[in-house]
Amino acid sequence: MATNIVWHQHDVDKARRAEAKKQKSCVLWLTGLSGSGKSTIANLLEKKLAEHGKHTYLLDGDNVRHGLCGDLTFSDKDRVENIRRIGEVSKLFVDAGIIVLTAFISPFKTERDFCRNLLADGEFVEIFVDTPIEECEKRDPKGLYQKARQGDIKDFTGIDSPYEAPENAEITLAFSGQTAEQSAEHLFDLLKQKGIVA
Ligand code: PPS
Repeated sequence: MATNIVWHQHDVDKARRAEAKKQKSCVLWLTGLSGSGKSTIANLLEKKLAEHGKHTYLLDGDNVRHGLCGDLTFSDKDRVENIRRIGEVSKLFVDAGIIVLTAFISPFKTERDFCRNLLADGEFVEIFVDTPIEECEKRDPKGLYQKARQGDIKDFTGIDSPYEAPENAEITLAFSGQTAEQSAEHLFDLLKQKGIVA
């Protein structure tokens, strides 16, 4: 733990950094099982936001684990550290005035709440991509469920590692056969309603 450090207050704040883009900086925190559609929906939503001239950044589980979190496994302890780092990085981006989209399984409620509590009220928008495991397993886009069932992957979320579903997410995308494009469109409309984008 560092000591003798003092916080510097800067003259340009996040609201000022965001105002030119007519947006309110925040984190759109997508959580859900592997294969639930988090990354696909986040990617489409970011595209939509970019088309409307918004300044965004997408942090994605698989990608971040190639660099910043490349030293972490899928043990409970490492997942906690993974989400702690993402929470802190997201906070920096929010301070930069950016709309951050995150697509992590983020299976534990305590760590999602930790990330929420790093931010001011209204800056953490939890989006539960509520696709049932049967559907995720049917999709199995990377063949990981099959490997987990065969015992070739250990600690796989939903199989032999827990997923704690959010109880009070700001937005839940209940699965009813909608396309990822429709979900992204729906989210974009909700962001307008919430005043996050003008
Ligand atoms: S976590 O739980 O939030 O720390 O996970 P995350 O950083 O989002 O990484 C999830 C992606 O890693 C791949 N993968 C696994 N997922 C779950 N459990 C195990 N054991 C595992 N091993 C590899 C998988 O591709 C996840 O990507 P998504 O996009 O969620 O399918």
